[in-house]
Amino acid sequence: MADTKEKILEVRNLKQYFNAGTKNEVRAVDNITFDVYKGETFGLVGESGSGKSTTGRSIIRLYDPTEGEIDFQGTQVHNISNKKDLLTFRRDMQMIFQDPYASLNPKMKVRDIIAEGIDIHGLASSKKERNDRVIELLELVGLNPDHASRYPHEFSGGQRQRIGIARALAVKPKFIVADEPISALDVSIQAQVVNLMMELQASQDLTFLFIAHDLSMVKYISDRIGVMNTGKLLELAPADEVYNRPLHPYTESLLSAVPLPDPEHERSRKRTVYVPRESNGEEEKLREIVPGHFVYCRESDVADLKKKKAAYYANA
Ligand SMILES: Nc1ncnc2c1ncn2[C@@H]1O[C@H](COP(=O)(O)OP(=O)(O)OP(=O)(O)O)[C@@H](O)[C@H]1O
Ligand SMILES: [Mg+2]
Repeated sequence: MADTKEKILEVRNLKQYFNAGTKNEVRAVDNITFDVYKGETFGLVGESGSGKSTTGRSIIRLYDPTEGEIDFQGTQVHNISNKKDLLTFRRDMQMIFQDPYASLNPKMKVRDIIAEGIDIHGLASSKKERNDRVIELLELVGLNPDHASRYPHEFSGGQRQRIGIARALAVKPKFIVADEPISALDVSIQAQVVNLMMELQASQDLTFLFIAHDLSMVKYISDRIGVMNTGKLLELAPADEVYNRPLHPYTESLLSAVPLPDPEHERSRKRTVYVPRESNGEEEKLREIVPGHFVYCRESDVADLKKKKAAYYANA
């Protein structure tokens, strides 16, 4: 858990529309605002198509935001307008991708994949220094340094994801956008990769934006969780609050879809389906219900949400 409340990233009213202004317009990210604190893991969850990847990709400037502001340690990411500044920014912010098969160039040796960032940023002054750094990185992610001369296809999914992690760490970033880094892996090795990431977070001073489909995994690793649906952030709170004392009906429906290993519970489990309300003209936005717990709602909902939150404690 971040012990300081120093913000490393501030996202303000971010919009990412595709095919804007045409009949095919997709409001993939529709006016979201949140902060990420230094050293924390911020989990971003939601169903397929809710806008999680688009959010991550906009933050790291793989897209030009349609509207809004992204402040990363004082850098106005949305305003970056040339390659040099983008490169400087990407030294501090790196991405780990979902598919460790598609994200590694099959024609490149592991050494060169990992050293990509080192080469781009000129971080090694000799071939030996470059090689030493690759070996160090391989060890850091739990891979055999002898494997540097091999190609990606010689590795398992979990090993490939470790290579992807080593590649991201090569430039000593401060912030990592991890877009479903374990969803493509066998369940048996998901925990290993997550554990590695948590170890690295502590040892390398990293902050994570960790994107995931469902809450079951992120609740263990996230300090705070944001819940997305149709491009909007519907709830944002400490992980434990989102998981145990959710306030937004959509979060409740997501939680009702998380299977538990208890068959008794499975039989009695009530699945709820989220149906968004019709607009009544009142402004809906993320509002702070109790300190640190935000819900996308109307001003007229706030009193009831406060009661709902209090009831959790009364019934405990
Ligand atoms: N480049 C693009 N052009 C047009 N539409 C896009 C593009 N990328 C994403 N979208 C659309 O934006 C919406 C959000 O997509 P996004 O990939 O961000 O969702 P996601 O939450 O990451 O979903 P998943 O869990 O499946 O990865 C979807 O409707 C998607 O079809
Ligand atoms: Mg995605």
